[in-house]
Amino acid sequence: MKTKSFRVFLIVHLLLAAAGLNLFAAPAASPRERLLLDANWKFHPGNDWGIAQNLAKAGSGSGPAGIWFSDANWRTVNLPHDWAVELPFNKTADSSHGFKALGHGFPSNSVAWYRRTFEMPKADAGKRLWLEFDGVFRDCDVFVNGWFIGHHDSGYGSFRYDITDMADCGGKNVVAVKVDASESEGWFYEGAGIYRHVWLLKTAPVAIAPDGIFVRSAFKTNEGANGPNKLQADLYIETRVMNSQKESVQARINCVILDNEGKEAETDHSFKLEPWSEKDVQLETGIVWAPKLWSPETPNLYKLVTTVEVDGKVVDRQETEFGIRTVAFDKDKGFLLNGKPYVLKGTCNHQDHAGVGAALPDALQYFRVQKLKEMGCNAYRTSHNPPTPELLEACDRLGLLVLDENRLVGSDPLHLKWLEEFIRRDRNHPSVFAWSLGNEEWNVQGAAGGQTVIRTMQNLVRWLDPTRLCTVNVNGSYGETGFFAVIDVKGFSYNIGSMDAYHTNHPNANILGTETASTVTTRGIYTNDTANGYVAAYDIITTNQSKDFPNPVTWGETAEGWWSFYNARPWSSGGFAWTGFDYRGEPTPYAWPCINSHFGILDMCGFRKDNAWYYQAWWTDKPVLHLLPHWNWPGKEGQNIDVWCYSNCKEVELFLNGQSLGRKTMKKDSHLEWQVSYAPGTLSAKGYTDGKKVAETKVETTGAPAAIQLTPDRSTINADGEDVSVFTVAVTDAQGRGVPVAADLVHFELSGPGKILGVGNGDPSCHEPDVYLPVWSSHSVAVDDGWRWEKTTQPWNASLPEFAAAFDDSTWAPADVQSVTNQLGGNEHGVFRAHLKVTETELAADAVELCFGTLNGTGKIYINGQKAGETHDSDTASSVDVKHLLHPGDNPVTVLVENYSSSGGIIKGVTLRMQDKSVLPGWKRSVFNGRAQIIVQSTKEPGAIKLTASADGLSPATVSVSSQPCTPRPAVP
Ligand code: GAL
Repeated sequence: MKTKSFRVFLIVHLLLAAAGLNLFAAPAASPRERLLLDANWKFHPGNDWGIAQNLAKAGSGSGPAGIWFSDANWRTVNLPHDWAVELPFNKTADSSHGFKALGHGFPSNSVAWYRRTFEMPKADAGKRLWLEFDGVFRDCDVFVNGWFIGHHDSGYGSFRYDITDMADCGGKNVVAVKVDASESEGWFYEGAGIYRHVWLLKTAPVAIAPDGIFVRSAFKTNEGANGPNKLQADLYIETRVMNSQKESVQARINCVILDNEGKEAETDHSFKLEPWSEKDVQLETGIVWAPKLWSPETPNLYKLVTTVEVDGKVVDRQETEFGIRTVAFDKDKGFLLNGKPYVLKGTCNHQDHAGVGAALPDALQYFRVQKLKEMGCNAYRTSHNPPTPELLEACDRLGLLVLDENRLVGSDPLHLKWLEEFIRRDRNHPSVFAWSLGNEEWNVQGAAGGQTVIRTMQNLVRWLDPTRLCTVNVNGSYGETGFFAVIDVKGFSYNIGSMDAYHTNHPNANILGTETASTVTTRGIYTNDTANGYVAAYDIITTNQSKDFPNPVTWGETAEGWWSFYNARPWSSGGFAWTGFDYRGEPTPYAWPCINSHFGILDMCGFRKDNAWYYQAWWTDKPVLHLLPHWNWPGKEGQNIDVWCYSNCKEVELFLNGQSLGRKTMKKDSHLEWQVSYAPGTLSAKGYTDGKKVAETKVETTGAPAAIQLTPDRSTINADGEDVSVFTVAVTDAQGRGVPVAADLVHFELSGPGKILGVGNGDPSCHEPDVYLPVWSSHSVAVDDGWRWEKTTQPWNASLPEFAAAFDDSTWAPADVQSVTNQLGGNEHGVFRAHLKVTETELAADAVELCFGTLNGTGKIYINGQKAGETHDSDTASSVDVKHLLHPGDNPVTVLVENYSSSGGIIKGVTLRMQDKSVLPGWKRSVFNGRAQIIVQSTKEPGAIKLTASADGLSPATVSVSSQPCTPRPAVP
């Protein structure tokens, strides 16, 4: 419930940094805890248990949704986890999703269960508890302790559930999630499973609401840092505070702004909170003087520390990172950052990386952002969905502007709710400069209905965030009706031929190139190869359909084509190339055996294709000089080879084996070409600017593959069980030069406190696995003999003498548990007893479960007098985890069967199932054009992680990465 809001002006205390006060160092304690819930989930592909949600009775989730269900035999996984990347490729599967055996036609691969069991401390009673999912692909049902707590459809939104009432403080808690990835939301690889983090949030009953803080800055004018008010930024802080108690409280909120030297400003306010209410408190603080502005080049961050007190006691404290900057659009100057025209050199990207699919560890987000920045990219479009929060954090901290995109367009209550949650989640990120409400909505983008829907969405966003404008990526509907009629910033998807006319006819329109390029190239390939699905890496676009290009990119542009166009038109704001990185799916212009896209400027691993140097040449100021192709062309001696050069030098001179092939002048935003008669040796170039040599480069004909080189991107990582080092695997010749055509199969071995997450090589047609899973099996022994039974009239009695280990059942009737005939008639209850004879070897198994062919009724199982569990699945086989209660030798077992239907009992056999030790996989990957990638993750143990790479006939390489002690993020044990 939302009640009236305040507008309060408060005093600002200035620059206490000089007094040496540094609040970063001494955070005050508060009951708020946000614990990572990523480790040790149990995972089971497939769904043998039906819907599991029992609508007839509350809190009675069945199968894995039930609290007693045994998942002892399930695989243990850590989040983020994407099971799609583990699946094989299949020619009959959906090409746009990367031919993974998922979705329609693969029902058993498309649904899976996750379970996580944990103890909640007794001390948490009275706190407010939330379960937060950053993203699950998709269509998931969530259960807590057998209660169905919610369904979430979209695979891209973050969502949370208040679990205060169902949590057992002081007891065991089970979270179960059924995920159904049968349907897709996009036309690209989307992954499957809990592919982002999960958190357990605990707060006091009076606390800041989740996503309840919005801090924004404004200058007096759009001139920002350059204008007359350049030395001051006004801060506006909105805080939603909730009271989930039955008493009203008098609360005080205190907001402190910190930079990394100390306190910049402070404000506070007292107010009354009614019982069971929420209140939005709006504080207009004064000023931060001479703010250190945020930009991609200077990603300066501030911290807002919000404290809530009740009766002088701190009940909540939360830190929010933010930046001070302005963003705006101008009809003539295009996008403005901090008041100045700022050309967007952007790329669109999906969240998908070699080895891990959609489940990116946070460090890999940073790795990818860094790769984009290295080539001068300054903006990222999260096509076509709200991103993982850590991507935005990486963009805030490393400096990349973000066009943050919504997935599903609609203005019904559910779509607007998702839109609101998305904006509230992301609006503190300084990197986010605009909201994209959608992408190429062919059916509605030009229609009157589309216009009204997008207007409603935009109005909601304006209400939630007055600091940013909205755009939408529109392909082809640039008329007077539809999205373009109302959207703040007109987002052009391709169609650069329509832009000048649109600009002339709509001189007041803000314009942005939301999507462009779709240039297709394959790393290290210089002739089109239809059989293997490779496209030559020259910046050429083929638009005619032919047998070589069954699905040509008729809508695309070359890198040079789009960039030179946009860069010549300041009003266009710059644009976003499709795409920064290759991704699985959309294998345009080919189909099977090609399984991933060719659009990336970088491949799936983040290795550069040649176009990356085109962009770097024109997106950065440092001298760039790059030649293509490689110079290994045996058999082509004397034949002409197309040699291209990407450079921002004013002139470039080319040499073959020391002989000049001429000096050429470089045109802005262009490239140079030569035809060179091939002779092995060295092709080199010198770059000149203002008559001075500023760069040199060469490509050499290499020898045969001789050795492997391993290079980690970081040689020290954190021993937090999350951090990763990304290794480049290169095959070199005897002189240590990368062999650009090498295809050797490399085997990996790892020792020390780390594990391999995945492997890749950037080959768009490679069907080798990205992930090798441990293989295990189980074996069962029958426990059918020696069962005896008797009826009971006290099934609800939790301390029946029959449960005791020493109970004498010798006078009971024998029970046949193998037959299909139930022992119990209508509403009859029974106690069944037997003896489990277990050996030491059997007990050494990773898991030991007692399994029932069918336990018809509610079963309560006791081993050696102690309760092992319950089963509630009369229709399917069920099992109970018993390992912890067994000892070698004789173990009496008692099963109470409560039966409220026409028949009940134990039928179809009983077995003891032992999980065999899993066999760890051998990891391997071929290099593609000389390179592969292997991603290694730390455990929580510090030490040296040693990786060895070997291949037939090559000298192996061994490299260690140091995993250093650190304080891991607070996590649920
Ligand atoms: C666009 C679309 C992208 C991608 C691209 C391929 O039309 O927005 O998601 O499919 O085409 O060229």
